[in-house]
Amino acid sequence: MILVTGATGQAGGAVVRGLLDRGLEVRAVASARSAAKVDPRAEVAVADLGDADSVQACLDGVTAAFLHSGYAGIDESQAAMRERGVQRVVLLSSSAVPSGDLTNAVGAYHIRSEQAVRDHGPSWTFLRPYSLMSNTLRWLDQLADGEIVRLPFPDVAVATLHPDDLAAVAAVCLTSDDHTGRAYPVSGPAALRPAEQVEIVAAATGRAMRFDGIPDDQARAQLGKSMPPQYVDAFYRLFVEGDADETTVVPTVRELTGAEPRTLADWATTHASAFALPS
Ligand SMILES: NC(=O)c1ccc[n+]([C@@H]2O[C@H](COP(=O)([O-])OP(=O)(O)OC[C@H]3O[C@@H](n4cnc5c(N)ncnc54)[C@H](OP(=O)(O)O)[C@@H]3O)[C@@H](O)[C@H]2O)c1
Repeated sequence: MILVTGATGQAGGAVVRGLLDRGLEVRAVASARSAAKVDPRAEVAVADLGDADSVQACLDGVTAAFLHSGYAGIDESQAAMRERGVQRVVLLSSSAVPSGDLTNAVGAYHIRSEQAVRDHGPSWTFLRPYSLMSNTLRWLDQLADGEIVRLPFPDVAVATLHPDDLAAVAAVCLTSDDHTGRAYPVSGPAALRPAEQVEIVAAATGRAMRFDGIPDDQARAQLGKSMPPQYVDAFYRLFVEGDADETTVVPTVRELTGAEPRTLADWATTHASAFALPS
């Protein structure tokens, strides 16, 4: 039985589907508010990831776990996994980790979670995915008002990752000892600036959307509407000041899964209905 946290999220949801599609048994850990959205083929466990006791209550029969970073009680829950015979943990970490910068709020919670797993957990693999292609769904609010997509960091090219490729890499690491003690950056196939991403999604979905870049000073103010200032600062430093490298394409997907990474056009074609104009 493989435990997956964040089972209704972009990353966790893809991992749940990917494992089920491979015929594996999955216990999907979801918050009480989202449990009904879990893939019906999975066993559902309701837990609060910030409460180590409720995570530990999900461990019966678990042999491997795909875990999200950044939750309180991770030392205790990792020790419990080791004691209860969980053989492998695959931690969903971040490209912010290699900087080692604990003053970056995003980097800090991932760095501390990796350390907790190293210190207290079972055998581990760390996955440090680049930005997921499914973040593109955040454009839909803007597209409800017209065809202009205004995005921050216009000069930063990111090799965005298809969630199914993150899931494929996770499935390999959750079911094999070959990747124990390894930390992998995971990228998509091509570094694309936001304008190029909008062009690709427009072509694949048939929407006449156009890109407009948000200048960096305005981007800070806009991001501040949806996240606390320390995270605004963190993302600014990661993407604009180069504290994280999400531009360099890495071969992890090909090397671990044997398949080429999926493209943004692949993702957008599959999700074209989400971008359809209301009739
Ligand atoms: N998205 C990316 O591009 C990306 C790239 C690299 C790394 N990451 C990392 O991956 C992680 C997940 O990102 P994501 O984009 O998949 O996020 P997401 O779509 O928001 O999913 C988060 C999931 O965790 C669940 N959750 C949150 N708090 C919980 C709690 N206290 N107890 C139980 N479940 C809880 C959410 O359920 P509810 O909806 O019910 O809250 C949701 O299912 C983050 O650590 C992020 O830094 C993301």
